[in-house]
Amino acid sequence: LATIDVDVSAIEPGMSVTAKWRGKPIFIRNRTEQEIEEARQVPLADLKDPVARNDNIDANAEATDLARSAGEGKENWIVMIGSCTHLGCVPLGQAGDFGGWFCPCHGSHYDTAGRIRVGPAPTNLPVPTFQFISDTVIRIG
Ligand code: FES
Repeated sequence: LATIDVDVSAIEPGMSVTAKWRGKPIFIRNRTEQEIEEARQVPLADLKDPVARNDNIDANAEATDLARSAGEGKENWIVMIGSCTHLGCVPLGQAGDFGGWFCPCHGSHYDTAGRIRVGPAPTNLPVPTFQFISDTVIRIG
């Protein structure tokens, strides 16, 4: 399918779901205030990959927490292609040294904004094209 619609109304803060789009896992996470705050506190200079990698915004945008999220007013939502940017394993959610995602294949740690922090993965988990088509439904693609 070119696009999929995902109802996120049942995803409470701290929870996530994995959808499938174009044969790839798509992580959709409703982040807690604390998780957002942790990501916001990270100086951009500490990031291995300083680029947002968000298909919905400028290709050169910096990897701030807001630029990685669903945007103003929806900062709690993060939507990403769940394929480790090292060699494509599927990272585990709510895991790793930064509370985001952990790839068990070779030990890549991503933070709560899906940014690579430690390990062999070269870039942040990519954010696909998506939009909220209502308060509770996300259209991916
Ligand atoms: Fe994820 Fe290698 S595939 S660390």
